[in-house]
Amino acid sequence: MKNTVILICAVCIAAVICDGCKKKQGRPQVTLKLGHALDIAHPVHKAMVYMAEKVSEKSAGRMKVEIYPSEQLGTEKESIEALQLGYMAMTKTSTAPMEGFIPQMKVFGIPYLFRDSEHFWKVLKGPIGKELLLAGQKQGLRGLCYYDAGARSFYSKKEIDSPADLKGLKIRVQNSTMSMKMIDAMGGSATPIPFGELYTALDQGVVDAAENNPPSFYTSRHYEVCKYYTLDEHTMLPDMLVISTRVWNKLTPQFQQILQEAVDESVEYQRKIWAEAEQSDLKTVVQQGVKIIHPDKQPFRDSVKSVWDEFEGTEIGDFIKRIQEVQ
Ligand code: GCU
Repeated sequence: MKNTVILICAVCIAAVICDGCKKKQGRPQVTLKLGHALDIAHPVHKAMVYMAEKVSEKSAGRMKVEIYPSEQLGTEKESIEALQLGYMAMTKTSTAPMEGFIPQMKVFGIPYLFRDSEHFWKVLKGPIGKELLLAGQKQGLRGLCYYDAGARSFYSKKEIDSPADLKGLKIRVQNSTMSMKMIDAMGGSATPIPFGELYTALDQGVVDAAENNPPSFYTSRHYEVCKYYTLDEHTMLPDMLVISTRVWNKLTPQFQQILQEAVDESVEYQRKIWAEAEQSDLKTVVQQGVKIIHPDKQPFRDSVKSVWDEFEGTEIGDFIKRIQEVQ
């Protein structure tokens, strides 16, 4: 009997120590699933891989972020909903589909809101950017960071030089009322389609055109179908990394800190690789037979005045003013 007790105790202690060993060797205690829409060659995906590596390093393997690209876990809208329910931990989405959940996000959809990339980052890194990251807490969505998504421009099967050329064109937009308003104001006909279905939609003529930044135009291979890229740079919609607040609140303060630090480091990394990707992806699409058009932006700006006017005197109007005041 005594021997049995001693044996059981020895086994128990060994089990505890072993558990300790396993922790040191890096058995994940927390695994966070992150779904998004982009291809693995995209600089925003690469930044998230970098972030996941940092999480693993900083937690000595106790925390893990598993990334599922290319809409494997759903479209951006579906992923945001999954976060609200706590089925998925994290997602990376454009701020455009976030508008349907967090109305303040609409401000990013105002065409020609930011003066340039410097203005954009000054706003995002400052108090307005921070306020908007946390604007969805009640809706169960906590923004962790913004990633650069550059400026969006039209690509089409036919040449677009001015808003007049958009007349009669079916243009794919994201799941976003602001994008629809913008296309309407410019004279085109807006059709919302998830990113993952767009190649086929363009190929089969469901839509004639779309709009996006150079790395997304390139990595989605939409350039195979659309041979005209008009750099009118109408919107600068940031990408956002979001975590379910339910999941966030369950993390220990130490894990929260590790995750936030890793995310912040990935933002700096992403900004560097973004600038390079924008340049090289433009060159590559040209080599693939795409004609780049540098249009006069003023007619595009003038065509969307009604979108600005609509928000005067509203909460979005106040954000617009505050953003314009940032020098
Ligand atoms: C950008 C953005 C994606 C988004 C895509 C789209 O590429 O980074 O998050 O899905 O635009 O147009 O749907």
